[in-house]
Amino acid sequence: MKKINLGLIGCGLGAGALYGSFFDYLENGRLIACMDIDKKRAEILKKQTGAAYLYTDLDEMLANDEIDAVIVVTPTNYHAEQVVKAAEAGKHVFCEKPMAPTIEEADQMIDACNHYNVRLQIALMKRFNNSFLKVKEIVDSGRLGDIFELRAIWDNARTRASAEGNYRHRLISGGGYLQEDGSHPIDICRWFMGEVDSVSGHVMLVAGNRFENDDLDLVVMKHRNGSMSSLHITMLTHRRGLESYEIFGTKATLLMEWKFHSTHSLEPGIIKIYENAGQVTDVTLETSWNPHEELIDNWQYLNELRHFCDCILYDKTPRVGGDDGRAAVEIINAAYLSAMLNKTVKLPLESSPDLNSLFTRLQKESKWQIKDQDAWWSRY
Ligand SMILES: NC(=O)c1ccc[n+]([C@@H]2O[C@H](COP(=O)([O-])OP(=O)(O)OC[C@H]3O[C@@H](n4cnc5c(N)ncnc54)[C@H](O)[C@@H]3O)[C@@H](O)[C@H]2O)c1
Repeated sequence: MKKINLGLIGCGLGAGALYGSFFDYLENGRLIACMDIDKKRAEILKKQTGAAYLYTDLDEMLANDEIDAVIVVTPTNYHAEQVVKAAEAGKHVFCEKPMAPTIEEADQMIDACNHYNVRLQIALMKRFNNSFLKVKEIVDSGRLGDIFELRAIWDNARTRASAEGNYRHRLISGGGYLQEDGSHPIDICRWFMGEVDSVSGHVMLVAGNRFENDDLDLVVMKHRNGSMSSLHITMLTHRRGLESYEIFGTKATLLMEWKFHSTHSLEPGIIKIYENAGQVTDVTLETSWNPHEELIDNWQYLNELRHFCDCILYDKTPRVGGDDGRAAVEIINAAYLSAMLNKTVKLPLESSPDLNSLFTRLQKESKWQIKDQDAWWSRY
């Protein structure tokens, strides 16, 4: 089978843990180049993957004619600049979520990829997870009746993190926890429930001594079809984690729950359908007895890369493209703006708000402290 030659930009945690070991299983692509401004990190990923080339300069990597496409896994505030450069160099682009901090940057990325006629896929990998696909199929089949509400919960135990140790928690990232992790469940709400019409956001910073941006958010979305969805998200739970989606229809209620989170799991989500106020049908996916088979079949990061390479090989449009990434960016910015203005924000958003004043206000309002010795953490 012909393989797409890939170069990876940003060889940090995500690159190593989510993709690094799995290139071996990518039938239609191979990683040939690793680029990071930190040479040591690029060397580690090169060793892990067996890639041929190492770069610390993006322009040098983009000048390599062997590379067909790039995978962008840098901090979100660099995505736009790097994606535009890659498109100009004629490379197809697979870009991590959140696509960008602002809709203006998302537009630049979409325009550049259209202009230079390269594919753009955004790494909203839950859309390639078999359990999420199963729920989408059930929703679309009508089995739940007309759907009027979705409640999403996303909790993590991450207080040992800090602005000092991670770009995500600094102002420079352009958004906080809602932007960073929230982009996943926000995308799921839109995927299951349709385009969003208006957004209300409530945003808090609890651990003001550790983070420069939000660590607790509540977002309510009204969809164009009249239905409503909500996301309650925090990185401050004392549980190990929780991810759940409860979908209410006129015929049934569906609950998909992950014991901790779907992100790092090959286990299927527990999916149950409730009817007539008590009748429960468990529709959780079966798994094989074989972890190797599970990995090949259901590692969502591998599945999305396979799809991306396929789109390049067979001239197809990625099923999670720039418009999907942009839509999540728009909803997140609308939620932040709603919190700033204390009112519901109607879409489309004309421009992205300047969030620095919001985060400065959150700093002032934060009443709590989590000291290093009291901080807690779970990688599930
Ligand atoms: N889809 C997911 O489940 C998932 C999970 C983790 C991270 N991510 C996303 O991946 C991206 C990176 O996150 P991470 O956790 O790997 O961060 P990280 O800080 O662990 O790694 C980022 C890497 O980028 C490098 N870098 C910084 N600036 C650079 C530049 N200008 N050019 C090249 N390299 C540069 C850093 O040296 C570092 O090695 C973010 O957008 C994040 O949201 C997605």
